[in-house]
Amino acid sequence: MSILITGIAGFVGVNLAQAMLDKGLRVCGVDNLSRGNLSNMEGLLSHPLFSFRQIDMTEPNALLDACKAFFVQEALTECWHLAANSDIPAGVSNPEVDLKDTFMTTHCLLDVMKQLGMKKLAFASSSAIYGDHGSTALVEHMGPLQPISNYGAMKLASEAAISAAAESFLDKAWIFRFPNVVGVPATHGVMLDFVRKLKQTPERLQVLGDGSQQKGYLHVEELVDAMLFIHDCATEKRAIYNIGADDKGVTVKFIAEETVRAARPNAHIEYGLGNRGWVGDVPRFVYSIEKLKQLGWFPKLNSAQAVQKALAQIVAQEQDN
Ligand SMILES: NC(=O)c1ccc[n+]([C@@H]2O[C@H](COP(=O)([O-])OP(=O)(O)OC[C@H]3O[C@@H](n4cnc5c(N)ncnc54)[C@H](O)[C@@H]3O)[C@@H](O)[C@H]2O)c1
Repeated sequence: MSILITGIAGFVGVNLAQAMLDKGLRVCGVDNLSRGNLSNMEGLLSHPLFSFRQIDMTEPNALLDACKAFFVQEALTECWHLAANSDIPAGVSNPEVDLKDTFMTTHCLLDVMKQLGMKKLAFASSSAIYGDHGSTALVEHMGPLQPISNYGAMKLASEAAISAAAESFLDKAWIFRFPNVVGVPATHGVMLDFVRKLKQTPERLQVLGDGSQQKGYLHVEELVDAMLFIHDCATEKRAIYNIGADDKGVTVKFIAEETVRAARPNAHIEYGLGNRGWVGDVPRFVYSIEKLKQLGWFPKLNSAQAVQKALAQIVAQEQDN
């Protein structure tokens, strides 16, 4: 089997690609390297079953030409679409960012898949599609879906476009609603932000918001494991699953304290005001993963353990940089 991964040079992309190669699959990847980079793919580029093209998926014909080149060796049987804008505040100040990188990447991919007869699509969606429901557990069929960021809005629009494509030409769509995912190579996120801030100002750590924001965290190794499990086991034509830890999450205060302990034990933590880090930040969300558990997948780590494991990895990553 031969698969296409978009956004392959990013955090989740390289972890997913490695897992696919470990299964003996041929992996073809595209990325414009706007947020991912070549060094993330160091372990992949020399693999005999790996091919990469640097393209912007939204440029006319760029994706079609790349896929045609991949097809020369062997037809691509399915696509895993991870390319998106991962910087939520950037999309709040400039909605064009999410229109292009979060939605148009999906639109252009569907167009190319239709032209080339590719009929299976796995999509990295997000908890951001739900909006702010406080401490009500988020279940897959709940509504109304009212995202509070352009990122969430364009993820929801992507889900809708994929659902429509499943009516016309796709045989199968997997929609994974990710929680906050942590691990390496970290390209963004609260822990990377904290570790880098402490490198710049070792004596203090400034936190966006009052630290009370509380969310679930999943380690990327478990995320990849869950995606592959859903891919293999879910029977619905449109298989929509929350993926997450089985708990109420941890606070930003917990993460700040753990980061200080791991990176700069004497640093002083300074909190901001209000329970949001930025406009579009959902201050608290709780996932229901009952559907995933019913399918037979259970997380091994809780949110606190995932954060602690990832923190050690991110501190090591940043020491090397
Ligand atoms: N990491 C998380 O916590 C998290 C949470 C929810 C959803 N997700 C989703 O999972 C996916 C992967 O996230 P990630 O953490 O690896 O982010 P990332 O930023 O590390 O990776 C995304 C990749 O997409 C690429 N990309 C963006 N626009 C592109 C374009 N126009 N053409 C080609 N490539 C483009 C970037 O260069 C980057 O390498 C994304 O769709 C993201 O929205 C991630």
